[in-house]
Amino acid sequence: MAGRDNTEEKRLYATQLLKACDGNAQTALQELKLAAKTIRESKSYTPQNSEVVVHVENVSKTYKVGKTSVEALKDVTVQVHKGEFVAITGTSGSGKSTLLQLIGGLDKPSTGAITVHSQDLQKLRDGKLSRFRNRTIGFVFQFFYLQPFLRLQTNIEVPAMFARTKRAVRTEKSKETAETVGLADRLRHYPRELSGGQMQRAAIARALQNNPEILLADEPTGNLDHANATAIFDLFKQIRDERGTTVVVVTHDLALAGMADRSIHMSDGAIAS
Ligand SMILES: Nc1ncnc2c1ncn2[C@@H]1O[C@H](COP(=O)(O)OP(=O)(O)OP(=O)(O)O)[C@@H](O)[C@H]1O
Ligand SMILES: [Mg+2]
Repeated sequence: MAGRDNTEEKRLYATQLLKACDGNAQTALQELKLAAKTIRESKSYTPQNSEVVVHVENVSKTYKVGKTSVEALKDVTVQVHKGEFVAITGTSGSGKSTLLQLIGGLDKPSTGAITVHSQDLQKLRDGKLSRFRNRTIGFVFQFFYLQPFLRLQTNIEVPAMFARTKRAVRTEKSKETAETVGLADRLRHYPRELSGGQMQRAAIARALQNNPEILLADEPTGNLDHANATAIFDLFKQIRDERGTTVVVVTHDLALAGMADRSIHMSDGAIAS
């Protein structure tokens, strides 16, 4: 509609605005400025220019096995922004899982520093680190790790039990997260009564139980067919969009990685691109 004369529309809008502000032109002007600022900010917002919530700085990790040592990570520096959906790709043995475990505080770097949501992980002793992890980070693993003898609802509630959330709140929350991942009608099932894709979605629901700021997933689609794998990545996007959760996913599948905002490619313990 290039060149369309919308003077009449503008006049109508100005009249309505003035009326809404009880005829006070000063208030109307302030409202207009505020609206313009909101529009400007919403246009310039992208996850990549939001605050950095994961800082990995010059991190190396060497595993010692007997007399030999393996340099799994070599001077890696990575940043992840709030609300970003990042995929980590690379060949087997390139250090993807090691990097994810260090970001999640499951292991410590040999050298370098890792800060997650302004918390230097190195400074946290065991108990405090566990509590920080429980509150801030949700993990999803390739092999689900659901407890076979617990019903789905109880499986989902496990992190909330560790966080000592009251039973009524826990139950309410597990129903909500099951709803998010499309398993509201499976809460009384045992894991063996679920399909592979459903088990993975259950593991994601469990990871979401304590409203984590960051969701870390290591090859979460490794055991799924293409349709289910794509559905899981769609679910990650949905979680990010609806909750603002930062999502970091390891995958060797480049097509799936393309669904993320950004890919970090690893090669031989270093960031290749
Ligand atoms: N606990 C450990 N002890 C000794 N070496 C290890 C340990 N964990 C990993 N490694 C070694 O560190 C390197 C990186 O392993 P990592 O598991 O991070 O790779 P990856 O990129 O996740 O591979 P994959 O795609 O096969 O899962 C590998 O050479 C591996 O053998
Ligand atoms: Mg791995």
